[in-house]
Amino acid sequence: MDEMTRSVSDMYTRFPYPSPTKGRRKYKELSNLLAVFSLESGVDLGGKKILDAGTGTGHRLAEAALMFKDTSFTAVDLSQASLAVAKATAQEEGIRNVEFRIHNLLDDDVRIGIFDVVMSMGVLHCLADPHRGLRNLVKNIADAGIVFLYLYGKLGSRERMRRKQVVATLLRHQVDFDCGVQMVKDLGFALDEYGWSYKNDDEATINGMIVDAYLNVNDILYDCDDIHNLMAQSGLRGYAIYGITTQDSGWFFDTAASGPNGILPRTTNVAQFLKTDLLRDAYAKLDVRERYRLFDLLYQPNGYTVIGFTDRAVEHLPADHRLVRNAIAVR
Ligand SMILES: C[S@@+](CC[C@H](N)C(=O)[O-])C[C@H]1O[C@@H](n2cnc3c(N)ncnc32)[C@H](O)[C@@H]1O
Repeated sequence: MDEMTRSVSDMYTRFPYPSPTKGRRKYKELSNLLAVFSLESGVDLGGKKILDAGTGTGHRLAEAALMFKDTSFTAVDLSQASLAVAKATAQEEGIRNVEFRIHNLLDDDVRIGIFDVVMSMGVLHCLADPHRGLRNLVKNIADAGIVFLYLYGKLGSRERMRRKQVVATLLRHQVDFDCGVQMVKDLGFALDEYGWSYKNDDEATINGMIVDAYLNVNDILYDCDDIHNLMAQSGLRGYAIYGITTQDSGWFFDTAASGPNGILPRTTNVAQFLKTDLLRDAYAKLDVRERYRLFDLLYQPNGYTVIGFTDRAVEHLPADHRLVRNAIAVR
């Protein structure tokens, strides 16, 4: 195991994410994502196989497994400590449709299985080699399968990175989680960003969130061009940004000039920025990649949910579907 993977493993062994405490926490991000995807694509997830790569303590997966009882989930992680929490929760909640396995995503030789959906949420950023990790994941996708990734955003993480640097400087760039957690608390650096909010959480969970946000030993950030480069080397056919998170909110993503017109409750709306014919005409001339760049600048995401497509994945979607409209081919 390389030095960076060892450090990441040590960090999550000491501070399993998202919580070292077993039991349901109603973290609904994953179950909501799958429910909305199934609804808007018409894909029935019953009987399908889903991989959660880097499941951590599995609190998000537990909600998905309870919602999709006829779906088979496999959950892998590098951290034995995290999987122990996930297994305890599954046992307590009578969850029988998840198989847990220790696995290093950077291990090129072991194929985990063949899955209709591969999810890896908030994981690639802490891999020693995210490109390799994603290429390995792609080897596990079935024909016409898809991948979901959650990646941390460069433009929306500037304040968090500034605070992280303050703490790192005070720690003289040494890894000291206990002292660092106390410094974050003493400095009054709240976890006020979407995705890290800790209302009603216990102290151990809060400390883990602080480590993840402010003391993470590997924290690779992405903008839309970095995402393009990642996907271009993945072996996938193409991708689309599925959703973004900003400082205090989450949005489904659509570059349509006219703004949202679908069933989704909260969708990005470029029309609100394009109030004149001059702006609307200029926007109409942009291709999808340029539109992605403009959205980066307008919304400054602190995170992206990305959907990756195998060769045959988009065949099932109508041509005017949001995901087809916003897709970018990389092969
Ligand atoms: C921030 S947590 C995300 C947990 C979960 N996906 C969620 O969204 O709540 C990142 C997880 O990736 C796991 N991880 C990091 N490097 C890994 C690797 N090389 N192989 C497998 N898992 C890894 C860590 O152990 C940790 O549990």
